[in-house]
Amino acid sequence: MTSAVAATPALFSFADVTAQAFRSSRELNALATTHPALRLNAICPYYTMFPLRFPLRVLGSAAKGQRVLDPFAGRGTTLFAARLLGLACTGIDSSPVASHLSRAKVSLASPEEVAALAERALEVPAPSEEAPEGEFWQWAYGPRTLEQICRIRGHLLDTSRLGITADNSDAVQLLRALMMGILHGPRTKKLPSYLSNQMPRTYATKPAAAVRFWEKRGMHPEEVPVLDVVRRRAAFTLVDLPPRVDSFVAWGDSREVLARLKATESKPFDWVVTSPPYFGMRSYVPDQWLRNWFIGGSSEVEYSENGQIGGKSEVEFIEALATVWREAAESCTDSAKLVIRFGSLPSLKKEPAALIRESLQMSGSWKISTIKSAGSAPSGRRQADQFSTTGGYVDEVDVWARRVAN
Ligand SMILES: C[S@@+](CC[C@H](N)C(=O)[O-])C[C@H]1O[C@@H](n2cnc3c(N)ncnc32)[C@H](O)[C@@H]1O
Repeated sequence: MTSAVAATPALFSFADVTAQAFRSSRELNALATTHPALRLNAICPYYTMFPLRFPLRVLGSAAKGQRVLDPFAGRGTTLFAARLLGLACTGIDSSPVASHLSRAKVSLASPEEVAALAERALEVPAPSEEAPEGEFWQWAYGPRTLEQICRIRGHLLDTSRLGITADNSDAVQLLRALMMGILHGPRTKKLPSYLSNQMPRTYATKPAAAVRFWEKRGMHPEEVPVLDVVRRRAAFTLVDLPPRVDSFVAWGDSREVLARLKATESKPFDWVVTSPPYFGMRSYVPDQWLRNWFIGGSSEVEYSENGQIGGKSEVEFIEALATVWREAAESCTDSAKLVIRFGSLPSLKKEPAALIRESLQMSGSWKISTIKSAGSAPSGRRQADQFSTTGGYVDEVDVWARRVAN
């Protein structure tokens, strides 16, 4: 099957975006929530994601042809900003959910292609589509809804029966991200937007707590027409995707992936725009356990460390970050810039600025030019505002650094 997507013109010219970057953040914010070409960014929420306007503003001063790296890509916000600006980009994340979401941010397919893929998946038995058993699953989804989710899941894990070729693998990425985005969320009185019984959308409640919640309220799951929700969501989110850029997304520990990349990557990066895991944050993977199941993980919560550095001791965390900065620098031009938004959990009384400074000094590869606060919590300008289980606001800082020449 060939892609039916027509080439769309670049969303922003460099001059426009630079001009916008220096206008009020309210304007940039309004643009970032209203322009249809930006909707893909919100296809699925992710913990501690930063707002699109942050990388968009930073990269507004990038020159044509420059290349961007995010070694802690999360849902791929930096990659999407790079795409909007026509910049080549590479993203790495050790969470499988994050790496799939990042891939979707650089994919291009029409809403019709994505909906048609879901429709075909529902018609054809999948190689493996057995529904998980147990109390959680009975309460979380109507039986027919769960059956349909499992069929689509089975096909996305093995696309052989759908006749998928390289041509439409972007549609696969987009359907996967879209399904992750609608897998759980609040129930509404209007047309359903999510497939689950009442749940948060940003993270999945752990099974025992979720069952207690539903049982106490006598809240039984409703059947949700999966294809209708997919069609509606695809028509809204994928209506006007920006053009493709040169991109690469890797699932893995940045310390290892970057070491491999520098041996193979011929063109160096000019920008590293990133937000490392919050110091003290152990739950990037377990909090996304339901999405992780959908993309092939266990139907139970997994607590393994999985290349995650956020939950390590302070010394190990600083060392791990220093390794990432050092490895990234080796794949960068001599004049590359590193821009970091960084926070730590309030319970861990360490200043984020001190942690990041120590890691950059230890790397010996970057010289800090500015460190400033990322804004006040109620203004809604920080990634921490997206974050609901920290038990308080998180201090965040923005750090700008320049590559120390070899
Ligand atoms: C603060 S989040 C990034 C959010 C991202 N800026 C966004 O807008 O979605 C940090 C990310 O680092 C990832 N991570 C943690 N340890 C990692 C490692 N060793 N290598 C690569 N990614 C890692 C986590 O899985 C998480 O997705």
